[in-house]
Amino acid sequence: MSTIKACLFDLDGVIVDTAVYHYKAWKQLANGLGFDFTEHQNEQLKGVSRVRSLELILGWGGVTKTAEEQEILATQKNTQYVEMISHMKPDEILPGAKQFVQACRDAGLKTALGSASKNSMMILEKIGMVDLFDAIIDGNKVSKAKPDPEVFLKGAEALGVLPEECVVFEDAIAGVEAAIAGGMKSVGIGSPDVLGRADLVINGLSEMSLEKLEAL
Ligand code: BG6
Ligand code: MG
Repeated sequence: MSTIKACLFDLDGVIVDTAVYHYKAWKQLANGLGFDFTEHQNEQLKGVSRVRSLELILGWGGVTKTAEEQEILATQKNTQYVEMISHMKPDEILPGAKQFVQACRDAGLKTALGSASKNSMMILEKIGMVDLFDAIIDGNKVSKAKPDPEVFLKGAEALGVLPEECVVFEDAIAGVEAAIAGGMKSVGIGSPDVLGRADLVINGLSEMSLEKLEAL
């Protein structure tokens, strides 16, 4: 008998692909400051908080800004980003994601969202998945970013399960590390080269099944 009682899902890159919107919004900001921002750099911001992302981008551009200016820039970027995600529709859910979360629930497992994004709720509303999670822990509820396990530990606590009874689904190495630090099992979504520390690496939730979950 499996000891797994709950599945905890990252949002960006696992349930939806919002990286393209983050990229467009950050690129606009970087271009406005007089330097470029590449897709390769955007890759490095997966799972990274808004504030830390801005610090990294300013560093890449060789630009120094005061704390106050940084706050204004982060707000500008978020305004752009929110405008883009406000048009999101359920057809932007990644293949198999909704079906697998539903299958977990049908099997009696608890489900939670564990995301760094402060816009999680808005995205879940736009794609019609709010009701598929027993708990939603987002960037507004945590003080320590992944790889700190806070977001997932809070998720387990909200679900009333132990960390060792949880499986985390993550596309970012920082997220896989957060799961490991929290004493949870993990499934990486993406490349084994990057996510090799996860217990299992798949290309997307369309490849996931309850059988694979049991076997972890
Ligand atoms: C993570 C994304 O899920 O959320 C990061 O992978 C993003 O790219 C972070 O920076 C914070 O998101 P938001 O919506 O609060 O700016
Ligand atoms: Mg992610």
